[in-house]
Amino acid sequence: MAGLYIHIPFCRKACNYCNFHFSTSHKQINEMVSSIAKEMEMRAKEIDEEINTIYFGGGTPSLLQIGLLETLMNAAREHYNINDQAEITLEANPDDIDLEKAEAWKALGINRFSIGIQSFADENLKWMNRAHNAKQSITAVEIIKQTGFHNYSIDLIYGTPGQSMEGWVKDLRTAFELGVPHLSCYALTVEEKTALNSLIKKGELPEINQDEQADRFETLMQLTAEAGYHHYEISNFALSGYESKHNSAYWEGVVYLGFGPSAHSFDGVKRKWNISNNNAYIKSLTNHLLPHKEETLSKKDVLNEYIMTALRQSKGIEKKILLQKGGQTCLNEITSLIKPYMKTQKVVEDETGWRLTNHGKFFADGIAASLFTLE
Ligand SMILES: C[S@@+](CC[C@H](N)C(=O)[O-])C[C@H]1O[C@@H](n2cnc3c(N)ncnc32)[C@H](O)[C@@H]1O
Repeated sequence: MAGLYIHIPFCRKACNYCNFHFSTSHKQINEMVSSIAKEMEMRAKEIDEEINTIYFGGGTPSLLQIGLLETLMNAAREHYNINDQAEITLEANPDDIDLEKAEAWKALGINRFSIGIQSFADENLKWMNRAHNAKQSITAVEIIKQTGFHNYSIDLIYGTPGQSMEGWVKDLRTAFELGVPHLSCYALTVEEKTALNSLIKKGELPEINQDEQADRFETLMQLTAEAGYHHYEISNFALSGYESKHNSAYWEGVVYLGFGPSAHSFDGVKRKWNISNNNAYIKSLTNHLLPHKEETLSKKDVLNEYIMTALRQSKGIEKKILLQKGGQTCLNEITSLIKPYMKTQKVVEDETGWRLTNHGKFFADGIAASLFTLE
């Protein structure tokens, strides 16, 4: 079992909060797609396993013309052994979705979408500098359903400047009414080199309020539970059977190859990451060189990664897996380090392992980091 990730580093507009790797100039789009297809060809020998998931992420892969997306799908099918039932996800923005494109995506074999909605409120979309409005978001979801796709997700961001609790509840209720089967909901983070950070520093937008974010997260958990969603990972909620196979595989430590600038790969032992620069990426592939750096994970890295990803998932940290990966000393160490979180009701324990409580979920990353002291 393995996965492919394909990073498309172009967007129509720069969202004020985003520090992912992308460019708003599309001059190099053809060269970029040829270079990614070449990287896919050059790295085919790195993987023997059958591919169960393909994920086009970004950036904004939905802005690719169909012919370019087809080039990448053909490269995947030519050089890798893709399972007939593979989950093939395309990140799509509402302003790119129309009936004609949706039909063409279907014909190419795309069978899942992650739609970048972020908010159903125009006032939020405005400060975010999104390229779509709320009405387009609803139409986009309807087109996806109309084309016969039932497996799709939407991204929403909460705890944003000026977002009221009523506003957040309205966003969630809109998603439920549309029948969205999977939600990825992220607390807004203020990244250093973003317009959002400058706007807050200049006092043009209010500071992010952590307590308000925690309240929004509580409400998110409560309302999604009432609506029948399974909270299977900190930021992810699915109706039964709609959990993302691709993301779940990442969290399980499954082997994956990442193509395109800034994409990461993992072969079970080594982690590789491609250069985050479009020019340098294209130039390197023109010279038949793979533009990545790599590191071999130490036993400690493997353990820490397991702790981080397991704690974020509903199944939690399993004692059996800690024993396998780190032995009895590791199990003893975690048992003692995690005790304070049980006292403050952030973590619960049973015979198989430890899970975060709803209260603890808001502190997941901090708790995981405090367990990272293993040698
Ligand atoms: C790199 S984006 C690409 C998705 C898509 N192209 C779009 O524009 O919506 C992936 C997702 O990360 C989330 N995201 C990015 N930056 C964030 C931030 N600073 N805080 C919270 N969520 C963020 C957004 O929900 C976004 O949809």
